[in-house]
Amino acid sequence: MNVFIAGGTGAIGRHLVPLLVRSGHRVTALTRSAQGAAALQAMGATAVLGDVFDRARLEAHMAEFEPEVVLHQLTAFSTTDGDPLQATIRVRTEGTRNLVAAARAAGARRLIAQSISFVCSPRHDGLADEDTPLYLDAPPAMRPLVDSIATLEAETLGAVNPIGTVLRYGFFYGAGTNFHPEGATAAAIRKGRLSLVGEGAGRYSFIGLPDAAAATLQALQRGAGGVFHIVQDAPAALREWLPWVAQRLGAPMPASLDVAAARRQLGDTMVYFMNEQRGASNAKARRELDWVPRENSWRLAFDALFPPR
Ligand SMILES: NC(=O)c1ccc[n+]([C@@H]2O[C@H](COP(=O)([O-])OP(=O)(O)OC[C@H]3O[C@@H](n4cnc5c(N)ncnc54)[C@H](OP(=O)(O)O)[C@@H]3O)[C@@H](O)[C@H]2O)c1
Repeated sequence: MNVFIAGGTGAIGRHLVPLLVRSGHRVTALTRSAQGAAALQAMGATAVLGDVFDRARLEAHMAEFEPEVVLHQLTAFSTTDGDPLQATIRVRTEGTRNLVAAARAAGARRLIAQSISFVCSPRHDGLADEDTPLYLDAPPAMRPLVDSIATLEAETLGAVNPIGTVLRYGFFYGAGTNFHPEGATAAAIRKGRLSLVGEGAGRYSFIGLPDAAAATLQALQRGAGGVFHIVQDAPAALREWLPWVAQRLGAPMPASLDVAAARRQLGDTMVYFMNEQRGASNAKARRELDWVPRENSWRLAFDALFPPR
C-alpha cells in the first residue's frame, strides 16, 4: 500500500518505518529537517520536508503522493522551543485537523492515529477497556491533556472517509523514550525527584516500541477502524516499578509522599498517574487485530533495559 507517515523519525516511527518497508509498503514520511530526511531515507522511505502546521504544503505533498493510508505518529515532547506539553497539545489538535483534512482531500481510505491508553477515567475498578470514557472530568490541571486526546480521537474517528483508527499505546519504554537509562524518568529517579505518592497504586500499562509498531502494522493491514489499547497484559503499579528501577540505577530509594502533600507539591496530574490510574486491557486488540505483545512482561523488559549494577 501507499502509506504516508507523519512522525516517522520519532521513537515509534524509527521502528515502524522499517517494518512497513520490510512488509512491502511504499512509505513517504514527513519531517521538518534535512537530518530527519536523511534518517528516513536510510530506513527505506521517501522523505518530504514540511511542518504539520503548514497545511497548504501538507496538502500538496499528500495530493502528489496519493496515500491509501495516513499514519499520525506526531508528538512534541522533546521540543526545546517552548513548553513540550503545550506543543504536543497543539500537534494533537491543530496538527490532527490538518492531517485529517489533507488525507481526505488526497482521497486516503484510512487514517491511523497515535493516542495514549493512560487518560481513561479512574472511577471504576479493574483495567480500562475501549468503552471506558476518557477522564474528561479530571481535575482542571489535567483537562488540557485529556481534552487534546479527546479532540485527536474525535477528529480521527469522526470522518467516514477516511476510516479512522485510534491506537492508544501504553507507556513506551526503550531508546528515545522516558523509560530508558538515558531518559527523563531515569534522570529524575537518580536525582531522587520521584516519590512514592500515597500507596503508589497508579498502574502503568507499558508497551515496547517493536510491539507497538507490530500492532500498528496489524491495524493497517487488517483495515480495522475504531479504538484499540496497545499495551502489555499486566500493568505495573508505581510501588512495584519505581523502587525496582531505582535499585537498578543505584539511585536513592524513592521517598514516600502523602497524597495531600503530593497534590500541593506535584499537582493533580502527577497524583493521578502515580496513585490513581488503572492500567488498560489489550483484549480487544488481541481479539480483533490478531496481535499479541511479544514482550509481555515489564519486569523482563526492564531487566534488560536496566541491568543489575
Ligand atoms: N505519548 C505521550 O503522551 C508522551 C507523554 C510524555 C512523554 N512521552 C515520552 O516522550 C518520548 C518522545 O516523545 P517525542 O514527542 O519527542 O516524540 P518523538 O518520538 O521524538 O516523535 C516526534 C515526531 O513528531 C514529529 N513532529 C513533531 N512536531 C512536528 C511538526 N510540527 N510537523 C511535523 N512533524 C512533527 C517529529 O518529526 P521531525 O522532528 O523529524 O520533524 C518526530 O517524528 C515518548 O516516547 C515518551 O517516552 C510521551
